[in-house]
Amino acid sequence: MNDETKKPSTEPYRGVRDFYPEDMVVQRYIQDTWSKVAESFGFHRYDASLLEPAELYRAKSSEEIVNDQTYTFRDRGDREVTLRPEMTPTVARMVAQRRRELAFPLRWYSIPNLFRYERAQRGRLREHWQLNCDIFGSHDVAADVEIIHLASSILTAFGAKDTDFEIRINDRATLFGEISKKIKDGGSTAEALKLLDSKAKISAEQYAQTESELFHTPLSLSPDVNSGVHTVLHELSKRGVTTASYDPSIVRGFTYYTGMVFEIFDTNPENRRSLLGGGRYDNLTGLFGGDPIPAVGFGMGDVTMRDFLETHSLLPATGIRGPVVYIVNDDTKTTHDAARIATTIRARGISAASNVSDKKLGDQLKLAERAGAGFALILSESDDTHFELKRLSDRTVTKVSLEECIATLLSELQ
Ligand code: HAM
Repeated sequence: MNDETKKPSTEPYRGVRDFYPEDMVVQRYIQDTWSKVAESFGFHRYDASLLEPAELYRAKSSEEIVNDQTYTFRDRGDREVTLRPEMTPTVARMVAQRRRELAFPLRWYSIPNLFRYERAQRGRLREHWQLNCDIFGSHDVAADVEIIHLASSILTAFGAKDTDFEIRINDRATLFGEISKKIKDGGSTAEALKLLDSKAKISAEQYAQTESELFHTPLSLSPDVNSGVHTVLHELSKRGVTTASYDPSIVRGFTYYTGMVFEIFDTNPENRRSLLGGGRYDNLTGLFGGDPIPAVGFGMGDVTMRDFLETHSLLPATGIRGPVVYIVNDDTKTTHDAARIATTIRARGISAASNVSDKKLGDQLKLAERAGAGFALILSESDDTHFELKRLSDRTVTKVSLEECIATLLSELQ
């Protein structure tokens, strides 16, 4: 077969998803809940293009992401462009650009689509949607507490119980102290962070081997009583968030975090993975010039969120929801008659679809059900001023004028 006759596959590109209408029901439920809770904490929504100049990521974010995981290409003007793998550099860029006009501290959120060239597996795809919530312009530990409180409130807003997840917190300031004390000459902090971040994924021998290459003496990761983490934990418990604990193994992959870092894990043994992660990054905006603006935030992905909700049976059982009414017609009436009635009904603020097929009446009614309509309005030969209004949930039929039909539908909407 030559190229001209080879048909394109109907499969999506490897590692990315198609969202059919029934998938969008779940997707919208997740994103609407995210927005509602973020806004209940006073966060404002922002967005940006998914294209960024590649240099944005060279400057500061995780080396692994920069080198191995971005989709980067040259545009027609020979500029290097990257499909954003995370939102943090973008939001730091936006805040830095308007730093003189913005009223700090800012509470900002967004739900971007992100792209990482990863090996696709459960919970990890090449594309995902990620809720980002960040506070800019506060050094106060109250901002750290607020961010973790918000993350935990989002999980409980989906119906999760305290025991369904655990919050693990560490402080990189302590960690950086340990690293700089013990690192050999020429060793990089980024390498050290990478090693610590991979601790749970590699063997003890492998870990010890790399550790001895990087450090004079093994790192001591025991809890530091003076760490700000203890204040965070104390304040969280006063707000009723009691499932948080100090975990010195939480390191996070990105190099830009400067202080508190945290992740939230599912406690179910079948889904033991990180649902979200974040922390304090006080220097990132400094990249763009001027004094750095302190920041703290987190990112929560839709893929792991959906797995979490499924694992704990927290997804509401709603199918696709169609128009309130579907106008169908027998063969004495035309699709144009149906469309005219739909227009009149829509003008009254009621969603309406009308038949555009030559299907038989019975098949049109089945289609109305599949489309998730609440009612079908049947146009037939018998009467030009009265129609049959069929409630599709129980199939009861009433004879109504157009005004009576509208009144019934409006009362249903309330
Ligand atoms: P991250 O840990 O790389 O952090 O991602 C945050 C969350 O996004 C993960 O916990 C996971 O739920 C989801 N996620 C990440 N990569 C994938 C993937 N390949 N497939 C599916 N889900 C994924 C960040 O991105 C930081 N920029 C978050 C942040 C915001 N820190 C401060 N503010």
